[in-house]
Parts: sequence; C-alpha cells; structure tokens
Amino acid sequence: MSWQDAKDVKIVTKNFGVDGSHKLSVYTERGGWQAFRKALTLPPAALTDEVKKSNLRGRGGAGFPTGMKWSFIPKEARTVYLVVNADESEPGTCKDRELLAYDPHLLLEGMAIASYALGCKHAYIYIRGEMMREARIVQAAIDEAYAGGFLGKEHAVGTGGNPFKLEITLHRGAGAYICGEETALLNSLEGKRGWPRLKPPFPAVKGLFQQATIVNNVETLMNVPDIVTKGGEWFARLGTPKSGGTRIVCVSGHVKKPGVFELPMGIPFRDIIYDVCGGIPGGRALKGLIPGGSSMPPLDANEIDVPVEFDALMTDPRIKDVEVKPGVPFDMGGGRKLKTMAGSGGVVVFDDSTDVVALCARIMRFYAHESCGQCTPCREGTGWLARVCTRLAKGQGEAGDVELLANIAHGIAGNTICPLGEAAAWPMLGFLTKFRADFEHKLRKAA
Ligand SMILES: Cc1cc2nc3c(=O)[nH]c(=O)nc-3n(C[C@H](O)[C@H](O)[C@H](O)COP(=O)(O)O)c2cc1C
Ligand code: SF4
Repeated sequence: MSWQDAKDVKIVTKNFGVDGSHKLSVYTERGGWQAFRKALTLPPAALTDEVKKSNLRGRGGAGFPTGMKWSFIPKEARTVYLVVNADESEPGTCKDRELLAYDPHLLLEGMAIASYALGCKHAYIYIRGEMMREARIVQAAIDEAYAGGFLGKEHAVGTGGNPFKLEITLHRGAGAYICGEETALLNSLEGKRGWPRLKPPFPAVKGLFQQATIVNNVETLMNVPDIVTKGGEWFARLGTPKSGGTRIVCVSGHVKKPGVFELPMGIPFRDIIYDVCGGIPGGRALKGLIPGGSSMPPLDANEIDVPVEFDALMTDPRIKDVEVKPGVPFDMGGGRKLKTMAGSGGVVVFDDSTDVVALCARIMRFYAHESCGQCTPCREGTGWLARVCTRLAKGQGEAGDVELLANIAHGIAGNTICPLGEAAAWPMLGFLTKFRADFEHKLRKAA
C-alpha cells in the first residue's frame, strides 16, 4: 500500500474531536474494550505473534520491533511488569500528552492486552511530572476502568489459560529528561535517583524490582487494540515494508499550521510541510528541519523528499557524511549506520531567517543541562559542546572551534552508558555536516 492509500486511516487519534473522548462511557459506546475481550479468547503467545506480524515498531524513539521486544521475556519469569513510558520530554515532541488527554482508555486497553500477552499482573504508567492535567485525566480513567470492572477484577480466559486480573498504577515523575531513558525510568520508579543502568541485563530480563519488564511508549501501546481487532496483517499493510501502521508527527517551528497529526507511515517531509501544515509563513524559503526530536541530525532543504519512516532516514544515500563511531548502541536513533531517523516524531521546521548556530547551541545547552553526570564523556562533553557552540553563536568563536566541536562529539558517541550523550553528539555532527558554512561564517565574523 502506498502512503497515499493510508492517508485517511486514524488509529490512535480516531477518538480525537469526539465530545468526552476521555470518558469510559464514550469509549465503550465507540467500541472500546472489545479488543480486550477478543484478546482474552486467544492464547497469550498468539497475541505476541500478531503484534510481530503487524510490524509495529516502538514509537518512543528507537523504533525497536514491539512484538520482538515482548518475546524477550524469559519463559521462566515468575513476575512480569509492563511499564508505560509517558515521560515525553524530547524537545520538539508533544504527541503523548495529547494522546493521554484525549484517549486515556485506549492506552489502558492497550496495556491490558499487552499485560495479558506478557503475563503481567501489575502495570505502571510513568508520567512526566509537569503533565499535571494529563495525570489527572489518566487517573480518572483508571478509576473509571476499575469501577467499570475492566481493571482489578478477574476476567475469564477463553482458551483455558489462567483467569486474568490486572492492576494499573500511575506514577508521576519529577520532570527530568533522563527519566525517559528506560532504565533511568525504572530506577526512578523504584524510588532511586533517575540514573540509567548499564545494559545488559536488559529490562526484559532484569527490569523493575529486578523482575522481567517491558517498557513501551504511550503511542506504541495505543496501536495494540486495533491490531487485535483488525489483525496484524492489516496494520502491516498500512505502513512500509518494515514499519507497520501510521505515525504521529508533531510539527513545530516555521509552518503556518503546526500541530499533532496522525499521518501515513512513509509520507515525505515535503508533503508534511507544504500540504499538511500549509507551508512556511511569509512565503520564506525552507532552510532545514529536525526530523524526529532534537536528538536527531537535521535534514537540509534538499532532503525533504525523504519519507517519514524509520529505515528510510537511516539509509537514504543522499544523507552523507554524518560519521558516528562504531560501537554506538541500538537505541534512540538506530545505531551504527545512523544518518538520521524519524525518532520520536517531533518535526521542527526552520526557514532561511534562522540562525542555525544559535539553534544548535540551544539544543546543546539542553543536553548539557539534562546529562545525569554518571559518565565523563557525556558530563564533560555535552558541557563543552554547549560552551563552544554558544561562543560561536555569539560571534566569539576561536580558530579551530568547528573541528573542536566535531572532535568532542566523536569523543562522546559510543562511549557512554546511555544514548543521551549521542543525543547531543549526533545532532552536533549533523548540523556541522549540513550547515558547515553557517558555522564558518560565524567564525569569520568573530575574527
Ligand atoms: C535520554 C533518553 C530519553 C528518552 N525519553 C523517552 C520518552 O520520553 N518517552 C519514550 O517513550 N521513550 C523515551 N526514550 C526511549 C526509551 O528509552 C525506550 O526506548 C522506549 O520507551 C521504549 O518504548 P518503545 O519500544 O515502545 O518505543 C528515551 C531514551 C533516551 C536515551
Ligand atoms: S550518557 Fe550522560 S545521561 Fe547517560 S548515563 Fe552517561 S552521563 Fe548519564
């Protein structure tokens, strides 16, 4: 199926715009919780297989295949946890908070199905502290789901498995970007400092309270009910060969109509900017865009025919020269072959009036501020990226600063416990590659 054929398909935003979409009564009137009923008639392993068939890939940034992740839970695991990552804090990304506010029951149903598939009896939602409104809405939805008998009550299982009962707890974080990284999130949920853990062991083997745990993004799980109802093949057909379904894209920056949109997987950036978002204000020329949250290397104006999809961005031959050292782990942005990636769906568009060096410096200051400080290359390196980039942006750069920035970024990538270091190094290298002339211009002005 081409992306044009899937243009009008809405999965996770299907209840947006419906009055009272966050209420259980509206959700059930519109067919809610039917997928859960169907799921309970199937063996748990069949659900994981269906999700594998669907080609659903994690929407938290890394794009890891969800069904495959679920199958990493060891067969002998006695306690299994499902944890929803609702910590959304990547600059440029603002989709999960909308999904939580408009359709919390879709998330709860997705969690219930996933929990049944995984053998989880107690699931958690870790929500960013600042999302107070969303936390209130989600807690109200949880309370309604308990009162309505969907949670906290034993359900019969159709095919002779154990009766299934699920508890869900909402936990509010304190607002640290690093707590979105799955192992930092688990530490924080355990009441510890939100520092990432070394992997392996991966959470599927030793996660929350040292037990087998799956961490999934909000959007990822909200796709699950439709996969159960309509089938994995239906979902896979909507997308590109390796990425099923649709994609939530949050567009900000220099466009006439910014916002959160559910779009077909594979739609080119050109169509998002000029069609979905109405083009650039004042008819200005496009300078570039960040394709998937601030941790992704940017694209320049000649690269906007690349489709919004996990793999196309990594392998597009036109995106050259972003050298990343071998050894970069597969997380957040796709690893060794990385050029750039659709990441968390946050598209930031910038026109030709933009001071790209100042933009890059702003991003670097964010990562320096949010580094947890555990590893030296990240703690020191992000600080130096921020300082050198900021002095360049202010016209106070020194000879050799452009090379220095590249060297620092190379010193971080592949040498840290978690990918936050790379989240700074990759865009730095990307900005230097795509907009080198802007950096050199700043240097000449300083001289
Ligand atoms: C620094 C950092 C911040 C992250 N922030 C988030 C986040 O806010 N939300 C999220 O779902 N994933 C975030 N991730 C990715 C998670 O570690 C994890 O891969 C994801 O929650 C897995 O869910 P998925 O497989 O459904 O995508 C972050 C990763 C890193 C390294
Ligand atoms: S890479 Fe940065 S954020 Fe991640 S563990 Fe190391 S110091 Fe902390």
